[in-house]
Amino acid sequence: MTSSPARSASGEADDPAVPGADSGERKGRATLRSDLRASLPDGVVALVVTAAVFALLYHRIRAETSSTVSVMPFMVDTGEFWMYFLSQAFGWSALLWAWITVVLGLLLSGPRPSWSRLSGQRLERLHRTTSLNSIALIAAHALLFAAQLVRSDTARWYSALGTAFVETFVPGGYDSGTGKLAIPLGQAALYLAIPLGLLFYVRHRIGPRTWRVLHRFVIVVYILSVWHTLLYGTNVWYDGWFRTAVWLLQLPVAALLLLRLVRPARRSEKLRGPRVHPGSPMGWALRLSGRLAVVGVILALIGVVVSGNDGGRTVPPADTSSSHDHD
Ligand code: HEM
Repeated sequence: MTSSPARSASGEADDPAVPGADSGERKGRATLRSDLRASLPDGVVALVVTAAVFALLYHRIRAETSSTVSVMPFMVDTGEFWMYFLSQAFGWSALLWAWITVVLGLLLSGPRPSWSRLSGQRLERLHRTTSLNSIALIAAHALLFAAQLVRSDTARWYSALGTAFVETFVPGGYDSGTGKLAIPLGQAALYLAIPLGLLFYVRHRIGPRTWRVLHRFVIVVYILSVWHTLLYGTNVWYDGWFRTAVWLLQLPVAALLLLRLVRPARRSEKLRGPRVHPGSPMGWALRLSGRLAVVGVILALIGVVVSGNDGGRTVPPADTSSSHDHD
């Protein structure tokens, strides 16, 4: 890994590769419209990935090897529940795209790998387009879940539509079982992703510094997404290699986050000794504890992966239907 090029004397970024200091200022500003257009190629790739995941999930349901059917035996009716499976597939592509965009973001704001062939500008654009696509994929995931609720509701269409909207999009609207917590976690991720991602396009109005400070909290969106998945996804409901693999994939993110904190691209963000720290001692202690907390997370992730103790439920015996409630 090598650090990205030096910044201006003020410590503020003037490198186009650093988010918030984008090249747009010099070469035609990146607008939401231009970025939406640029999002098309990786959006198409995301759709292909979603289609492949859907095919796999659908096949597993039909073969009755899917844990979704063990958790909810009635879901074996693929004709009735295909939208649910499509929603699951969008959930996985959303999570994958969120993973990619977080990794790209951390590479931009932390030390850049020397082997990376992508220029800073290219990396930054890819970060923005994968972010936009992540939001679209999450929205598709939620909308298809709502569509399935409408389809399976025997009430009049307008009342079914109202119920589905409330259960999908209103925090607390889904009030039973694990979903009581898991659905609001997903909603919080979606509702935070929109402003924390899109404020980029109005950063000149709110001030680039405000934008940068706010955008940092986007890591919370990612944590909520992973938490929501591990808590509620029926394909990771039980113990097993796939659930452990989802945990394992969080290790590179945590490692890059630590590197970003310890060796930030912006020199002004580097944590120096308490005596030379420009802010208050309290601020210094908080920043240090943030870094130590990430070290703790890395150790915990290693513990989960090595022990296989990943919070999954125990697989029920083959001859009984599920005793789990996925409400
Ligand atoms: C309004 C927001 C959201 C709603 C209403 C929602 C709804 C759901 C539901 C009902 C499930 C259970 C599906 C199953 O039986 O497996 C689920 C699982 C899942 N969700 Fe979400 N979700 C939301 C946000 C998110 C976000 C932000 C992400 C990630 C970026 C995400 C990714 C996933 C994944 C990967 C699964 C696992 C699917 C599976 O096991 O096959 N969801 N979500």
